[in-house]
Amino acid sequence: MRIVLLGPPGAGKGTQAKAMARELKLAHISTGDLLRQNVAQATNLGLEAKDYMNKGLLVPDSLVTRMLEERFAQPDVKNGFILDGYPRTINQARTLDSILAARAMKIDVVFDLDSSEPVIIQRLSGRLVCRKCGALFHKTNMPAKTPGVCDQCQGELYQRDDDKEETIKKRLAVYRKEVAALLEYYRSAKILTTISADEDAQAVLKKIIETAKKFR
Ligand code: AP5
Repeated sequence: MRIVLLGPPGAGKGTQAKAMARELKLAHISTGDLLRQNVAQATNLGLEAKDYMNKGLLVPDSLVTRMLEERFAQPDVKNGFILDGYPRTINQARTLDSILAARAMKIDVVFDLDSSEPVIIQRLSGRLVCRKCGALFHKTNMPAKTPGVCDQCQGELYQRDDDKEETIKKRLAVYRKEVAALLEYYRSAKILTTISADEDAQAVLKKIIETAKKFR
C-alpha cells in the first residue's frame, strides 16, 4: 500500500505514521525527519534547509525532491510506504505522481488528519522528540516513563527548534495557504479520506487502519 498523510503541524502525522508503519509493515518516509537528520549531520542539504525550517517556511522543492528521490531508491519502499509531510503543495503532488509513475507506482489512499487549532497548539508546545531514534512523546499527553529519557532507546528527549510559538503560527499559515488546492487534487482523484484527529492517538489509529484496509 502507498499512503499519504496530510494535516496541519501537530495533527499527529508522525505519531500515526510510526504506528501505521509497524501495524501495516510499510516504510515510513517523513520529509521533516529526513531534513532534520540532514541538519543534525550538517550536510550541504541540511545547511541550506535549516534557515527555512527555523522560520517555519517550506524548504525549496529542488532540495526536497532530490532528497525524496534518494529515499525512493531504497529497497524497503517497494513493499509500500507512508508519506508523512510530503506533498505539501500542488507542485509537490504533481512531482510525486511523476516520481511514482517512473517506478510504475501510484498512491492508493490519502488521509487528511483534521485537527483544531487549540489542540494543535497544545500538542506542539508539549512535544518532545528523541534525539537518537526520533520517537515522539508529549509532556502531558504521552509522557516518557522517565522524564527527558526515551522509553525505547534511552536517548535524550528535546524540543524541536520550530516548536516556538511564533514559528508554529508561521507553519500553520503556510499550511493553510497551500492545503485547499492539495485537498482538491486528491478529492478529484477520489482517494481522499478525512479523519478527525482530535481524539486520542489509539482511536485515530484505529480509524485509519480500518479505512486503509479497504484500499488494499
Ligand atoms: P514536519 O516535520 O513535517 O512538521 P509538520 O508538518 O509541521 O508536522 P509536525 O511534525 O509538527 O506534526 P505532526 O503532525 O507530525 O505531529 P506529531 O505526530 O509530531 O516539517 C518540519 C519543517 O520541515 C517544515 O516546516 C518545513 O520547513 C520542512 N519540510 C518538511 N517537509 C517539507 C516538504 N515536503 N517541503 C518543504 N519543506 C518541508 O504530534 C505532535 C505532538 O502531539 C506529539 O508530542 C505527540 O506525542 C502528540 N500527539 C500526536 N497525536 C496525538 C493524539 N491523538 N492525542 C494526543 N497527543 C497527540
